[in-house]
Amino acid sequence: MTGRDLSGEVAQLEREAADALVAARSTGELEEVQSAVLGRRSPLARAHRVLAGLDPDERRAAGKALHEARTRLETLAAERAKALAAAERAAMLERDRLDLTEVTESEVRSALRRGRLHLVDQTRRELEDVFVAMGFTVAEGPEAETDWYNFEALNIPPAHPARSMWDTFYLELGQPETVLLRTHTSPVQIHLMEERPPPIHAVIPGRCYRRETPDARHLPVFHQIEGLVVDRGITFADLAGTIETFTTAYFGADIHSRLRPGYFPFTEPSAEVEVTCTICRGKGCRTCSWTGWVELAGCGMVDPAVFEAVGIDSEEWSGFAFGLGIDRCAQMRHVIADMRAMVENDVRFLRQF
Ligand code: PHE
Repeated sequence: MTGRDLSGEVAQLEREAADALVAARSTGELEEVQSAVLGRRSPLARAHRVLAGLDPDERRAAGKALHEARTRLETLAAERAKALAAAERAAMLERDRLDLTEVTESEVRSALRRGRLHLVDQTRRELEDVFVAMGFTVAEGPEAETDWYNFEALNIPPAHPARSMWDTFYLELGQPETVLLRTHTSPVQIHLMEERPPPIHAVIPGRCYRRETPDARHLPVFHQIEGLVVDRGITFADLAGTIETFTTAYFGADIHSRLRPGYFPFTEPSAEVEVTCTICRGKGCRTCSWTGWVELAGCGMVDPAVFEAVGIDSEEWSGFAFGLGIDRCAQMRHVIADMRAMVENDVRFLRQF
């Protein structure tokens, strides 16, 4: 065979090899074709062995042609290998894909679940509604108070034994023990009576603080809604009627409530409002400390000493006040055995309301 014959044959072999490489449909197939057209037993390799029998000039020309053909085929094989590998990977990803469009309606709903007001806020709003329907307006007051508003103006002088009724958080402001976190919403009674002349018919919801160890009925941060009525001719019957109207409106007729005598320095006479414990239905349990009753509110007729502190003439005006535990109302209405659930932020609890 001459060098010219060989060059023509190489061109022919290259075309056939290129066609075979392009025709391979998988990386596995390509590897087989590659070894058939470029390997040791390929026609190209055989042609290479023929070179040895040619004279030097012809050998150089044919050798160059062979080398170039092999280089082009190797480049083509590498390109094909890359393209086939990419296609195979894409196909594999497609096979393993999770179809996220096949989500059930309830899964969509739970992914979109909206937040809601905390049970305490819902309860505060419901209580406001009950009292607004009875003709009260809604007012507010500060959570940080001076000793005068929280205690003295409410007829609780310094060192009075009744102060032990309220374990107080003091703030490091001014003279020691003069500024505090209010222990009840009653100081807002004083603010209202200072701000406007009677008649007053107001409820005041808000946060209160006491240094108490949390238990089934108590939290150190809790909520009250204060009520204050100052008008002409207000009697204890008005107070009792208001409490009765409230308990029926909020709890319904089948929850029993009662007023029992109590003591508060700023009301005289004073009473405590209790409801039958809804956890044990009155039989006695841990939540009600085995009494069958849970205290919801303190109340009473405004003490003349309080009117005097704010300059209201107690000959002309009389009034009643109450302080209702908002968290307690929620606890009894929704039968929550342990108050601490309210602040644990467990969504399984919160979602129920
Ligand atoms: N402030 C009292 C308390 O929290 C409750 C109360 C309010 C009592 C108004 C009488 C009148 O203990």
